Amino acid sequence: MKRILSGIQPSGAFHIGNYFGMMQKMIQYQDESDLFCFIANYHAMTSLSEGPALARGTFEAAAAFLALGLDPAKTTFWVQSDVPEVQELTWVLSSLTPMGLLERCHSYKDKVARGIAANHGLFAYPVLMAADILLFQSDVVPVGKDQKQHLEVARDLAIKFNNAFGDTFVVPEAEIDDEVAVIPGTDGQKMSKSYGNAIYIFTDKPTLKKAVMAIVTDATPVEAPKDPDTCNLYAITRLFLGAEERAALRERYQTGGLKYSDVKKELIELIWTTFAPHRERWDHYLANPGEVLRILEEGAEKARAAAAPTLADVRKRVGLAYR
Ligand code: ADP
Ligand code: TRP
Repeated sequence: MKRILSGIQPSGAFHIGNYFGMMQKMIQYQDESDLFCFIANYHAMTSLSEGPALARGTFEAAAAFLALGLDPAKTTFWVQSDVPEVQELTWVLSSLTPMGLLERCHSYKDKVARGIAANHGLFAYPVLMAADILLFQSDVVPVGKDQKQHLEVARDLAIKFNNAFGDTFVVPEAEIDDEVAVIPGTDGQKMSKSYGNAIYIFTDKPTLKKAVMAIVTDATPVEAPKDPDTCNLYAITRLFLGAEERAALRERYQTGGLKYSDVKKELIELIWTTFAPHRERWDHYLANPGEVLRILEEGAEKARAAAAPTLADVRKRVGLAYR
């Protein structure tokens, strides 16, 4: 069975773009692979410097994954900093990483270009990410397009290490799903928590209503036929519909007489009922944080046990285990 590994940063509440773009897919993998899934809180530190916010975000990210259906009995699910061994591997890999390799990374260069103060953590981010992947001998790493170059760094470092010290690491494959469309936000741009255009999964109904009502639509008159394929409201609504319901909605668009405000009202109910069981579990975990913490403790133990043989082998090969 293939080992699939991925991580998500706990940098804010999750929206339906996160769910349809990443989380749902990860949760489906738990039935067909040896899934390793973690909350990348060390990585989040490169852009978040408030301790309480990071701690709360980490807990809520874990609760969200569990509420959305991640099953800790089928997966290895943990918080990155609960397996600090990954930092030792980061150092070992750092010593093999040419500066030029990191200097070429777009995500670092983009952040610097956007005026985000460059700290060493941001620069070294891909090395920590490589350590996440290699420590667990991952075969496949599903990521968004923006992470493609980081996967190349991980592959480069695995090959470099294997050449220098003998076969140690699985060379991981990136899985970049070009099919997963970018989910648009209420203004039609990519949905993102940084753009103020997100529809959040765990929210109260008035807030949900407000977000959906704010979805931008065009000025086509009610009686005129409309094109679902250029409609932002359709692009979001379709995520919550099966094939037949999609066809029926398309038909309503194309025959004319459709009111966008009716579709919005339907969408509010669709989102509200789709996530009803998840919301119930979310409320449960928030009221019973001890349950989440226990799951994370067990997850960390499983992850540590999986990491131990690789780290011991690395220490021996590089000469850290000198006795
Ligand atoms: P945000 O843009 O809100 O800060 P992140 O960059 O933290 O979101 O993304 C976390 C995960 O969710 C990534 O795997 C990313 O590919 C996915 N994701 C985020 N926004 C979208 C979107 N609008 N459509 C599809 N996937 C998304
Ligand atoms: N950098 C990834 C992101 O922002 C999160 C991440 C950290 C990750 N370590 C990873 C993803 C290892 C895959 C594998 O989306």
